[in-house]
Amino acid sequence: MAEREKRMVRIRTAVLLFLVLMTGAGCTPMDDLIVAVFGRSMRDQPAIQTHQDPRLPAEGSVSFASGNFPAQPGEIAAGQPEGVTPPPPITPIQLLQEDPIAVDLENPVPADAASLERGGEMYARSCAPCHGDAGAGDGPVTAAGVMSFTIVEGPALERSDGYLYSIIRIGRGTMPAYGHQITHFDRWHIVNYVRQLQGQLPDGQADDTNDSGQED
Ligand code: HEC
Repeated sequence: MAEREKRMVRIRTAVLLFLVLMTGAGCTPMDDLIVAVFGRSMRDQPAIQTHQDPRLPAEGSVSFASGNFPAQPGEIAAGQPEGVTPPPPITPIQLLQEDPIAVDLENPVPADAASLERGGEMYARSCAPCHGDAGAGDGPVTAAGVMSFTIVEGPALERSDGYLYSIIRIGRGTMPAYGHQITHFDRWHIVNYVRQLQGQLPDGQADDTNDSGQED
């Protein structure tokens, strides 16, 4: 009996010692060896450790969420410009109900050549995959079964500039929201470009009026 107990104690001690070596000190000699051979080990890396303060953003960097409202068309988001009020937040339900805070927004960007160029660039990047280059709802992803929608016929012709601006901002149904990616003035440039696709810009289009050519 006593002999067997002693053997059990020895086995338990050995197992415990093995576990301690494996877990506690297990990796360090291996790391040391790797450092000796390669100069550094996998543990030597810039990942933020538990409870360590995060690294500060580089100097001069601008938060992507700094108002999402660039000072001027074509500028990067640099916080809230003085004297211009951003449009109020809006939900998809409000847009569906054609809430005036969305549909009555006034387009502050004249549909001039620069705006149409920028709008075209942004449209090609974010909208054409679904709506197609000409807005007919036949973009390349529709071949893979993604739903699309013509925006150059039907209801889209009757929508106000504010409605188009808002749908870009918050999306609708399977159309994604772009509020976090497409900034305030870029949304208006896209609206101007869509008006051009719809043939709704005034004749000779790229003039400097603020009128997007939409009839009430
Ligand atoms: C992933 C595909 C997809 C992308 C990308 C996309 N849309 Fe849409 N869009 C849709 C779908 C689908 C609808 C119909 C939404 C619904 O009612 O379910 C729609 C609806 C619209 C409408 C409303 C038409 C109407 O008559 O009410 C407009 C305007 C529009 N999109 C413009 C844009 C613009 C501008 C962009 C680029 C910023 C864009 N869409 C990007 C899929 C997309």
